[in-house]
Amino acid sequence: MSTVSQVKTDSISPPAARAFPADFLFGAATAAYQIEGAAHEDGRRDSIWDAFSRIPGAVVGMDNGDVACDHYHRYRDDVALMADLGLQTYRFSTSWARVCPDGGPANAAGLDFYSRLVDELLGAGIHPWLTLYHWDLPQALEEKGGWPARDTAYRFLDYAMAVHDALGDRVTSWTTLNEPWCSSFLSYIGGEHAPGRQEPAAGLAAGHHLLLGHGLVVQELRRRDPELSLGITLNLTVADPVDPTDSGDLDAARRIDGQFNRFFLDPIFRGAYPADVLADVAEFGFDSVVLPGDLATISAPIDMLGVNYYHGELVGATPPAGQTVSTAAPSERPKRSPFPAADGVHWHVRDLPLTAMQWEVQPEGLTRLLQRIHDEYTGPAGVDLAVTENGAAYDDVVADDGAVHDAERVTFLEVHLAAILDAIDRGVPVRGYFYWSLMDNFEWAWGYDKRFGIVRVDYDTQARTLKDSAIAYQSIIESRALPS
Ligand code: NOJ
Repeated sequence: MSTVSQVKTDSISPPAARAFPADFLFGAATAAYQIEGAAHEDGRRDSIWDAFSRIPGAVVGMDNGDVACDHYHRYRDDVALMADLGLQTYRFSTSWARVCPDGGPANAAGLDFYSRLVDELLGAGIHPWLTLYHWDLPQALEEKGGWPARDTAYRFLDYAMAVHDALGDRVTSWTTLNEPWCSSFLSYIGGEHAPGRQEPAAGLAAGHHLLLGHGLVVQELRRRDPELSLGITLNLTVADPVDPTDSGDLDAARRIDGQFNRFFLDPIFRGAYPADVLADVAEFGFDSVVLPGDLATISAPIDMLGVNYYHGELVGATPPAGQTVSTAAPSERPKRSPFPAADGVHWHVRDLPLTAMQWEVQPEGLTRLLQRIHDEYTGPAGVDLAVTENGAAYDDVVADDGAVHDAERVTFLEVHLAAILDAIDRGVPVRGYFYWSLMDNFEWAWGYDKRFGIVRVDYDTQARTLKDSAIAYQSIIESRALPS
């Protein structure tokens, strides 16, 4: 063989595919209010999202979760679809308003739905990864004060134990809260999520009481069954300063890191709120909300930290050139600063691709985030990590043949899985990945306007169609490697 043909042969042989560790779990995620529908069946009563959806202007198109993906009636077919995709695990949430409709006694019919769902998953060989609170507080509890009221944390404990009574014999992975930043600051200060309040002191109290509820549930579940895997899911971010040598930009980054990351991570892993954040919010009386013993409860040891990652932030003390107002904009980046200490922070846009949410596609931020969380928080505590959400909305088009060729979502999936492999290569114990979302669904204040699914839902017929991204994910899961 000549040297030339040798070179040619080498150059066409594909680079080795990047394999995932043997115990890495591939999954997808959903949440009760976003997919279930059946909002008034079998004893379910209003959650704060049912009530919020009725307020004109709160949700795009005045959409609501009354029917959503009708998963409540179609869960068997949906589990069959998951099995077809090869999912090893499925992250879903139980609806508090279905299980304890008035925030009080448990409703057997509501619990029975989750019992049937869990059986169906186990029968299909899919590991159930249960989240207890994905934002749907019973409206009856909101009327008694909602999360700003301390008592709500104790009602959360009652509800969680009702779920454990029913499912504890079969479910081993338990997540207390999903993204408490959203259910406190975005909901009670920003007013963009249910219940739509705009009260800074109440929002801070909500954040603390959510964490207290988390700690109470972890302690009690641990006491009931030391074998369970217990955790929480946070929407953490990477806040980069526009100019890392500018003190104003650095302070903007510190404040965003404080409200999104450290406000939650520090009490959970260090048993204390960060001093700089406490100083930033000193005027709101937060100190009086934190009672003796609370931080010990909140810092009860956990086994798993769920990280939801969609994009990072580039922030500064001044607006981008040519712009006089803050770029703070859509959805989880509220129109109005949801956190008092973020006043005056300006978001800048990088030269990166954007999703339909106008969120940057920034996979290397995920690697950096996982590494930092491991180094500073979870590693010293011996806690594992899972990426419990990551995904992208795009304006999908149904082709003439009925297929959805969502090439951008395929790329999004692949580059973020590669970012996770980069973190694993650096020694970060990332145990699993859940694409958000299994299927298109009710995207909160955006209603059905934004589609995140790898499975398309036709809301007129409820037909499910695998998008190209679902087929790509299926083949990644099958080979347990990223395509070369
Ligand atoms: C995070 C939330 O947990 C989920 O409910 C939401 O749909 C996605 N982000 C996308 O915005």
